Parts: sequence; structure tokens; C-alpha cells
Amino acid sequence: MKIPPPPENQTGLSSEQQARVDQATQIITAGGTVAFPTETVYGLGADATNPNAVQKIFQIKQRPTHHPLIVHIGAHSELDFWAQDIPEPARQLAEYCWPGPLTLILQRSRHVPDAVTGGQNTVGLRMPIHPVARALLSAIGPHKALAAPSANRFGRISPTTAAHVQQELGTEVDCILDGGPCEIGLESTIVSFQDRIPHIHRPGGVSIATIESVLGTTVMHTHDCAPSIRAPGSLPAHYAPQTPLSIFPVPQIWQQASLLAEQNQRILVLTWSDSTQPVTRNPLIEHFAMPMEPKLYGKHLYARLHQFDQAGFDCLLLETPPDHPHWLAIKDRLQRASYRSVDNPQS
Ligand code: TXA
Ligand code: MG
Repeated sequence: MKIPPPPENQTGLSSEQQARVDQATQIITAGGTVAFPTETVYGLGADATNPNAVQKIFQIKQRPTHHPLIVHIGAHSELDFWAQDIPEPARQLAEYCWPGPLTLILQRSRHVPDAVTGGQNTVGLRMPIHPVARALLSAIGPHKALAAPSANRFGRISPTTAAHVQQELGTEVDCILDGGPCEIGLESTIVSFQDRIPHIHRPGGVSIATIESVLGTTVMHTHDCAPSIRAPGSLPAHYAPQTPLSIFPVPQIWQQASLLAEQNQRILVLTWSDSTQPVTRNPLIEHFAMPMEPKLYGKHLYARLHQFDQAGFDCLLLETPPDHPHWLAIKDRLQRASYRSVDNPQS
């Protein structure tokens, strides 16, 4: 089932959209799976309290069952239902950033089934702001939640449109709710609380500056500490297109492109700066200019990777992002996507 996007300039849901959400709610309640839009990326959701339904997510995604799923909730009041022993900084972040692109890793309550957490004693909680996600969460009711990873196969690029989900999982998911292209386009920021101290576990939709200003303190990254939390988003090879992808600064990116083109490879160079191909043009090298502004770059990155992954290039070369906090989440995703790169062929 494919559901059309909302009419433009409409803030609430149309009656038609609400009807689609109601259908999706019935599917969730009956133990099925629904792909739904969030402000970050599309999620593949099922009733978090139904282990059989949660199991379907792992099957569809082909994800190892010990990797935990984020539990999406519809109201602030649900925080204490799904988590316990909540540190004060977590409450402050939830108060300020929810609904929005922030996930908190907290001690789970007895209401969270093992199937969701992969047996860990923590749960990832997030309250999305996308109107369709909110309508779905509101319709499934209190003390119900959507366990949902990004709606892509394990290790692949997250979907930012309903068409991406349709392409990859269309035959397996029971329903795809179309809420248009995702506004942020990169996954949520994840904050964990080892020893009750906040750590950035994954940079994302909420900036580190915002988190630090809410908490009034600087916050460390988990990679600065011993890894103790299992999370596929923290594996080196993740968020990857099938086409090998490498990162180079300008001007080396053009030299690398020439080298590969000499080996008869068809190359796409994606730059964010106004760098253009040097005068000696090679027909095997194409150039695409990404936005210079990090919010726009982030919004379009996955859609471009989806698009160019199917365009028959032998290699994608991306310009190294600027060393600036606003580019942190982009840098993180590009590093992971480039893990199996031409300069690192053994990985
Ligand atoms: O923006 C997002 O976060 C999107 C949308 C759909 O909400 N979701 C998403 O889910 O990116 P997923 O599963 O693709 O990535 C969530 C990350 C994974 O790395 C997962 O292992 C981690 O969060 N995670 C979830 N629960 C966790 C837990 N209890 N402990 C540690 N990591 C956890
Ligand atoms: Mg994912």
C-alpha cells in the first residue's frame, strides 16, 4: 500500500491523511509493520509491546536481533513509563528537545520487552515531531509506542522519502505512510548516560551546541570512552551505498578522479565548495555540486546517495566536509559510508 504525500502548505493532517493513519494504526494494533515519516528519516515501525511484531522488523531489515531498536513515544508523560531511574540531564534534554530529533538511552522499565532492546538493560527513547508520526503515535494510544529503526536494510542508507522505502522494502512492509521528504535528512542525535553522565553516542539532528547549552556543560563523545554499548549506527561500516565511496579534500579529489578514470572507471565527484573540474576534462568524470550550507547538505545527502548509487558509477568521490561543528553528523555518516573505500579496499 502506497500513500500519497500531504497537500502543500498544510500544517495539520487532511481527513484523507488521517484515514491513512487510522488504517496504519489498525495494522500496528494487529501486529503488522508500518513505515512512517519522521523529521529525520523514515522509520520501520511495529508495536513495541508485541515481541512477534518487533521480530518482523528484524526480519525485514535483516538486522541481527541483539541490536536494539529506538522506541518512539507520543508524549512527554510516556518517558517514565518506558524508562526508570532517569538522570536529571536526560529530563532537561527531553523537556527542551522533544518532540524532535533526539534519542535518549536510558535504563529501561519493565514495560520494554527484551525483543526491543536485544536483551540490554537500556532503551533508546525518542519523541518525533513529524505530524504524521505524531498522529500515528496519538492514534495507537497511551502506553503504546512504536519500536522503529530506519526503514532500510541493515547497513544501507536510511530512506528520506517514501519512494526510498518502497524501493527497498516495498514488498515486505504492510503499509508505507508518505509524509513527503524528511526535513532533516540525517538520523537523530543519540545521547547516552553511562554512569549518569551524558555522552554523545551519535551526532545527528540536534546540534552538540544545543545539547551543551541546555545542560550548561560540555559533553563528551562515546568514542572518547571504552565502547560498552552495542549499536549498529556505531559500527564503522554503516549507512553505505553499494558504489564504493571515498572522501578527499580539494584539490586531491580531482587527482584521484583522474587516476581512477585512467583505469577506465566512471567517477562522480561531489563537492560542497565551489571547486570545479580542472580544465583538462575527462568524459569519465562527472561533477555534482552539493549545497554549501550544512543543513541543506544534510537534508539532501541520503537522497543523492540513493540516486547516484543507481547511476552506474564505479566510484563516488566526496569532498571532505569542513571541520566545523555544524558538519559533525555529516562527517560521521560519510566516514562510515566510506569504510569500504578504494583507499581502504581490505575493509
Ligand atoms: O532518527 C532516528 O533516530 C531514526 C528515526 C526512524 O527515528 N531511527 C534510527 O534508528 O536511526 P536505527 O535503528 O537505524 O538507529 C538507532 C541507533 C542504532 O545504532 C541503535 O543500535 C541505537 O540507536 N540504539 C537504540 N537503542 C539503544 C540502546 N538501548 N542502547 C544503545 N544504542 C541503542
Ligand atoms: Mg539505521
